Amino acid sequence: MTHRNLVILTGAGISAESGVPTFRASDGLWMGHRIEDVATPEAFARDPAQVQDFYNQRRRLLATVVPNAAHIALAELAARWQGEFLLVTQNVDDLHDRAHVEAPPAAGFDLIHMHGELLKARCTVSGSVSDWPGALATDQPSPHHPRGTLRPHIVWFGEIPLQMERIEAALEACDLFLSVGTSGAVWSAAGFVEIARAAGAQTVEFDLAPTSGSHRFDLGLYGPATRTLPPFLAQLNSDAIV
Ligand code: APR
Repeated sequence: MTHRNLVILTGAGISAESGVPTFRASDGLWMGHRIEDVATPEAFARDPAQVQDFYNQRRRLLATVVPNAAHIALAELAARWQGEFLLVTQNVDDLHDRAHVEAPPAAGFDLIHMHGELLKARCTVSGSVSDWPGALATDQPSPHHPRGTLRPHIVWFGEIPLQMERIEAALEACDLFLSVGTSGAVWSAAGFVEIARAAGAQTVEFDLAPTSGSHRFDLGLYGPATRTLPPFLAQLNSDAIV
């Protein structure tokens, strides 16, 4: 079967084999921290040092990890895909970005970080976003506004995910939707499969084991993403409809 318009959603599970902790596993990020202490606007207002430190630690970790076979397989598929290709990640790491750089150049590699990016910072007054690979100090002066400081460019709980209109339009037009390494615990990403199904898309879930949302997928491929995803992507074909 050939497909034309592909949307892929990834979560922390695709980066797990690179050594980036997931959120809800027994040794996950939320086990060491309360979400309301490090991942809400209220936490940042109450204790900016604790919030900056939480993200500085995760930013430092990024320098020690590399993309894995699942990231690379997605970038290679993008390089040869003839139709529409949108990769939406909930992850704030840069492993998809780096995998894309390592793969052949792809005309249509479209990547959206819907929950923001660890290696970017945002001005608290203007909202301007800039690259920021280093640590953020508690009252880091903003280069964008004299009264601004810099916060992590992360979508916190209670904030709106980024580029939702583009994502929803792509889901409504897709004929194949893949979900890789996400527990489906957080909306709005958890609802993407329903939009794709309503569009008539084939839906496939990749995870270590069935999730609470598995019943909403046509197919589930379970095991480590570095083992399940590459062979599945390798057999995908897209024939551009001319
Ligand atoms: N291969 C495939 N799947 C894996 C692997 C692996 N090697 N390791 C873990 N997983 C799966 C887990 O089984 C789980 O279903 O990845 C999923 C990770 O789930 P979460 O830890 O909940 O992470 P995620 O789904 O990305 O969380 C979504 O919640 O906390 C917020 O903003 C945060 O973006 C995050 C969002």
